[in-house]
Amino acid sequence: MDAVEEIKSRLNIEDVVGEYVELRRAGRNWKGLSPFGAEKTPSFIVSPEKQIWHDFSSGKGGNVFSFVMEMEGLDFKGALELLARKAGIDLEQFRGRSNGTRGQEKERAYEALELATKFYQVQFSRNQAALEYVFKKRMFTKETALEWRIGYSPNNGSALCDFLKQKGFKEAEIKAAGLSARSYRGGIQDMFRGRIMIPLADAQGRVIGFTARLLQDDPNAPKYINTPQTMLYDKSRHVFGLHLAKEAIRRSTFVVLVEGNLDVIASHQAGIRQVVATAGTAMTEHHLKALSRFTGDIRLCFDADKAGINATERAIPIASKVGVSLSIIVIPSGKDPDELIKQNATTWTEIIQKPHYALDWLMDRYKNVLDLNTAPGKRQFSDVILAVVRGVQDEVEQEHYIEKVAQTIGVTKQALLGKLQKVAEAAKPRLKQPRVAPQLPEKTVQELTKTQSHFLALMLVQPQLRDLLTPIEPTMLISNELRELRAFLQEHPDFAGGTGQPPAALRPLAEYSKILALEYEELYQGLELTELRYEATRLQVHLIEQYVKMQKQRLAHELQTADEARTTTLLERAKQLDQLLKTYKGA
Ligand code: UTP
Ligand code: MN
Repeated sequence: MDAVEEIKSRLNIEDVVGEYVELRRAGRNWKGLSPFGAEKTPSFIVSPEKQIWHDFSSGKGGNVFSFVMEMEGLDFKGALELLARKAGIDLEQFRGRSNGTRGQEKERAYEALELATKFYQVQFSRNQAALEYVFKKRMFTKETALEWRIGYSPNNGSALCDFLKQKGFKEAEIKAAGLSARSYRGGIQDMFRGRIMIPLADAQGRVIGFTARLLQDDPNAPKYINTPQTMLYDKSRHVFGLHLAKEAIRRSTFVVLVEGNLDVIASHQAGIRQVVATAGTAMTEHHLKALSRFTGDIRLCFDADKAGINATERAIPIASKVGVSLSIIVIPSGKDPDELIKQNATTWTEIIQKPHYALDWLMDRYKNVLDLNTAPGKRQFSDVILAVVRGVQDEVEQEHYIEKVAQTIGVTKQALLGKLQKVAEAAKPRLKQPRVAPQLPEKTVQELTKTQSHFLALMLVQPQLRDLLTPIEPTMLISNELRELRAFLQEHPDFAGGTGQPPAALRPLAEYSKILALEYEELYQGLELTELRYEATRLQVHLIEQYVKMQKQRLAHELQTADEARTTTLLERAKQLDQLLKTYKGA
């Protein structure tokens, strides 16, 4: 048996979920309030029989691993480790020998870092200058200092190394944890000396490294130094503050990404806790993926200077690839969030509610720095914006921006399309479809998911209703899973979900079809076929209505900037949509 199976057999899914959600028995299943949103009637269901969970309010669902991944913001490996601990399983017995020692090394590094954190905290409480810096200069409270475990590293060479050696750690272990550096004389000395210490934690709050700030800015020394890359700390993946922000991100349904760690702490102290940082490093796909486990609405608050513009340019295609919506928050006065919050926390609360969609913001920035009346200005503008537009996944959105660029610099769309073609050929292959259509508000996505998955659940279990699937085009469905299931059902008209051995073609969708079967049980079990047909027809019409509505919004948006020829095409498309709606809804 492999580790995954062993864990599944030892843990009851309802027990694991029950640690996060209050569950009550409801027939064969358990029910509770969704942990993914505020609701008053329970729509979160766990099926011990099928070993899966499903949240009817957000449309999320899966097995015990995906639940822990969602709740703790972990990747699969992290969930495996957490659940193995819960199940009392030693993962090493499932690993090769070399991996086993690696696991032990990691454990030692965690221990060293935890001890170091406590050591720095004690030193902090005894150092007047450090106390003054944190409480007076940065205006942090005692609660904040304790919650973030702020510390101080003494300035005498090897205080921490000595302390850890005394606790039984070898020099190699201290080095592997990123806590020591080589000294001039060839021995080892503390990595951090005479600095305010801010622990970097993983999503569960375990310390994996530090960022350390000078008490007094000094032109000859770096203001911050950070733990180097270690087996625990990887700066291209680490999101600062996530362990304390994840609840608030889920509740507010968006996250604000700032540049500085201390900006994060200041915002949390002011009660705005859906804030995290990537701490001076360029944002990567890993960062956005980690955040996308909690929300699809990511708001960047970078400096509006050249570095901020560059960061935004790079971030747009990454966001499009990950399938999240990216927007920009601008602090008007050019301050950083920490300074703004100290002066006026209300303004901070307000501006994070009014983000600018990233590509619109970027175009505005370049309009201000380039002279669009000159040929070089026009060329540069189209160079940079088209390079970004190329990474946009959605064709309608892409076209919208091509129109917008054409209008802004006063050239024809054809000229731009030719140019886009050239950059596209020179560039990498097109990115994959995102999982969730980007730029749709979370709420809309949830609504669409609900309608579409209920409809597909009926199609899956009841082959007699499958004629209703015919008008539903793949483009109307919002996830790959739904599109794949639709294709499968069309190819297997007699297949009845939930009974018998599923054919090989359904296997990649095995978990998803289980979830839909559970939805079916909850919603439709025991209904007569006529009632089922009535319900399926209602959902089918609703699905088409939602699709037409969204398409029309896009058309309306695009019409604002369309030239005459394009306007004719758009109106033609609108007429088709009306016709579609009339056919199924009846006028
Ligand atoms: P900033 O210079 O904007 O610092 O660098 P800040 O966050 O406002 O810091 P305070 O308020 O002066 O304390 C932004 C981020 O870049 C990283 C840090 O993570 C910092 O928060 N940085 C900056 C470094 O890693 N090293 C440095 O020397 C400077
Ligand atoms: Mn600052």
